[in-house]
Amino acid sequence: MKKDQNQLILGIETSCDDTCAAVICGSEILANVAASQETHDRFGGVVPEIAARQHLEVLPYVVRSALERADIQLGELDAVAVTQGPGLVGSLLVGLAYAKALAFAVDIPLIPVDHLEGHIAANYLAPHLLKPPFLCLLASGGHTLLIHVRHYTEMETIGQTLDDAAGEAIDKGARLLGLPFPGGPALQQLATQGDPCAFQFPTASAVKGFDFSFSGVKTALLYATRGLAKAEFEAKKADLAASYQLAIVDALIARVQRALEATGLHQLAIGGGVAANSLLRERCQELGVNVTIPALKLCTDNAAMIASAARFIQPLAPASDTALTLDAYPRSQRLVNRR
Ligand code: KG4
Ligand code: ZN
Repeated sequence: MKKDQNQLILGIETSCDDTCAAVICGSEILANVAASQETHDRFGGVVPEIAARQHLEVLPYVVRSALERADIQLGELDAVAVTQGPGLVGSLLVGLAYAKALAFAVDIPLIPVDHLEGHIAANYLAPHLLKPPFLCLLASGGHTLLIHVRHYTEMETIGQTLDDAAGEAIDKGARLLGLPFPGGPALQQLATQGDPCAFQFPTASAVKGFDFSFSGVKTALLYATRGLAKAEFEAKKADLAASYQLAIVDALIARVQRALEATGLHQLAIGGGVAANSLLRERCQELGVNVTIPALKLCTDNAAMIASAARFIQPLAPASDTALTLDAYPRSQRLVNRR
């Protein structure tokens, strides 16, 4: 594998319901393809069995499409990077098996990547080329973490959610408001038509330090909608969405602010699907520190971020026992502190 900064890496990401493949050259994205599985919408959440089966069907085409868009032949690749976890095990195993077979067949190294480190590494891609140290707010459907990134491979979680993830609270809140899954984009859209001060939702101010809690705000929304007649619910829906979104963003920003003060860091980065939220993006810009915010497509799940993280990880020889026996893991091994 080339030791220079221009390695060609194929990234594969199948941790949840998006089938993703990307090709990067150093920090440049040559192709970043994602196929969303819309079939889950009608169930109001991701059905693991269906997600795994869909990855199996679609992944070869998504990889081919990424290679074609990048104008790269398989033989030109320097490595294959793949998400090992956390995520849905059935989905992860499809990506892992595919990546192992590809690495073995083409005889190039295999690089296992942690999905959460991938979200952080979205910030290392052009045009940002962020360098540690920095504070990272990682807010997705499954995780909400504040991470002190000291080096590309050295990081410490200093805050995490005690219950729901921010994205999970957004999706559940959106569902209560009758919006489609995943709720983030629809809730944000509805919120533009509402008054964010119409309802006062809690921001878990009793939770001190850098930890988060989103179960209270979710219950508060449930109580606010309960008992509303249909017409009243329709009339208040946009105000509820705006107030709910504001409470979640306020809760995130309050912890970020505290963590910046406590660590003395002057650089903030954000990542994960919730980082696509425009109010959160705006509020981060007002914190008085340098802020790196990935493009929308690099906030939600994608394979370019997986290839980006792979640049800092020790590659495995494709025919080695370690590569061939590599297993998926459902929960974060390094970044979530078990309590
Ligand atoms: O990182 P991601 O794509 O998948 C996980 O690793 O979980 O994050 C998905 C989450 C979902 O909860 C989705 O509703 C949320 O990100 N999301 C948003 C927005 N776009 C996606 N939340 C708020 N505003 C958005 N614009
Ligand atoms: Zn994610």
